[in-house]
Amino acid sequence: MLESSRERESSFVKTRPTLRIAIDGPASAGKTAVGMLVAEKLGYRFFDTGLIYRALALVAIDNEVDLWDENRLRKLACRIEMDGRDAKPDGVSTYHVVFDGKELNAQLQEPLVSEMASKISSLGSVRRSLLELQRRVIEPGGVVAAGRDVGTVVAPDAELKIFLTASPEERAKRRFKEMPKLGRRVDYETVLSEIEERDERDTKRELSPTVPADDAIVIQTDGITAQQVVDHILEEVRIRVVE
Ligand code: DC
Repeated sequence: MLESSRERESSFVKTRPTLRIAIDGPASAGKTAVGMLVAEKLGYRFFDTGLIYRALALVAIDNEVDLWDENRLRKLACRIEMDGRDAKPDGVSTYHVVFDGKELNAQLQEPLVSEMASKISSLGSVRRSLLELQRRVIEPGGVVAAGRDVGTVVAPDAELKIFLTASPEERAKRRFKEMPKLGRRVDYETVLSEIEERDERDTKRELSPTVPADDAIVIQTDGITAQQVVDHILEEVRIRVVE
């Protein structure tokens, strides 16, 4: 008798091994939305590596540490930890970022923090001091990790690497729609120029630029829904589990 797709789905989910799934890509490409849905579907944990760079930027601002003071930035970086959170029923398990035992939250998404995070992330010593923490979280598997260099540097041996991208205009449109939720009132043109500026820095920096790994599956998301992207990724997971 033929298995129904629901039965196939549930037996797949029950027998899944704990893969490491890397989802890299530029700002506002949908890594978080897609990554969380994939993690939820597989019962994995979602890890947003950008939070670590944002956390360091935020504590640097709060402690009045100069943007280029690599020594002090490195010392602050050592005090950042990730704390695993189990999902509420029907939700997704994630990680919260903690500094000196205190959870950092809302301010992480502020525009100044985004800009600072993008700037400090070009510093080699900062990247190196945050690498170990990211690897520790990803290594056990059962995790979907989103970032810029997860597939190229942090976890080059991840079982599945996805590179999500979309045109700057499409990404600006998506970000613009989120603005009321983030409490910001800006026009579309400003959002687009912020995205283009960040792209310029994140893709052209010397260290760990935002580029797909050689073995990454590149998904161009202009004009397709998050659910379609999720289905594509789950299909790639299925292939790896079955093969
Ligand atoms: O994904 P995000 O916008 O929250 O990331 C904030 C900044 O952190 C981004 O401009 C680049 C940097 N980043 C990085 O360099 N490497 C990562 N793996 C994740 C983020």
